[in-house]
Amino acid sequence: MKIVGISGSLRRDSWNTAALKAAQALLPAEHTLDIVAIGDLPLMNQDLETDGKYPAPVETFRATVLAADALLFATPEYNASIPAPLKNAIDWGSRPANVFLGKPAAIIGVGAGVLGTARAQYPLRQTLGVLSVQLLGQPEVFIGSGGQKFAGGALTDEPTREFLGKMLETFIAFAARVKFG
Ligand SMILES: Cc1cc2nc3c(=O)[nH]c(=O)nc-3n(C[C@H](O)[C@H](O)[C@H](O)COP(=O)(O)O)c2cc1C
Repeated sequence: MKIVGISGSLRRDSWNTAALKAAQALLPAEHTLDIVAIGDLPLMNQDLETDGKYPAPVETFRATVLAADALLFATPEYNASIPAPLKNAIDWGSRPANVFLGKPAAIIGVGAGVLGTARAQYPLRQTLGVLSVQLLGQPEVFIGSGGQKFAGGALTDEPTREFLGKMLETFIAFAARVKFG
């Protein structure tokens, strides 16, 4: 399974990017997880679309998503919703032809508060649903109090690591079922 990870945070020591890196290490060797860059995408502007072509970073992002067997989103919560860089990336991917169509995907999130990004994950589910992404329903991964579980850009909390590992097993089985039936 070729999984592409999308982190909603551009921060160097991002907990969400660190969660994706932890997932990379937890995956069985036959699967891969590559984290795609979204920080170089321009802000959505339809004037940047010419004859169905998009700026180079957008084309690269879209091709990476299109080639993925499955997607793993890791999102912070910004002011009780989806962080702008992530929404921007999704909006670029949604332009014709929608590169998210039919992809199996899961959402995880790390936040500073106790809600563990729930208020970002539910609107994200709504947006991805509209794009016909096949979302894993459970387990939901709400990692709260990130300051106590991550340090120096790494996941340091063992129970969280174990939970993430179990969730990845479920996700891979789900993604294989969506992709291969
Ligand atoms: C613009 C902004 C808005 C934020 N809003 C929330 C919020 O609504 N709820 C929350 O728990 N944390 C909020 N935070 C704090 C983030 O949880 C914290 O910065 C976290 O480290 C972001 O994830 P990252 O480590 O992957 O960058 C906000 C941070 C920023 C920069």
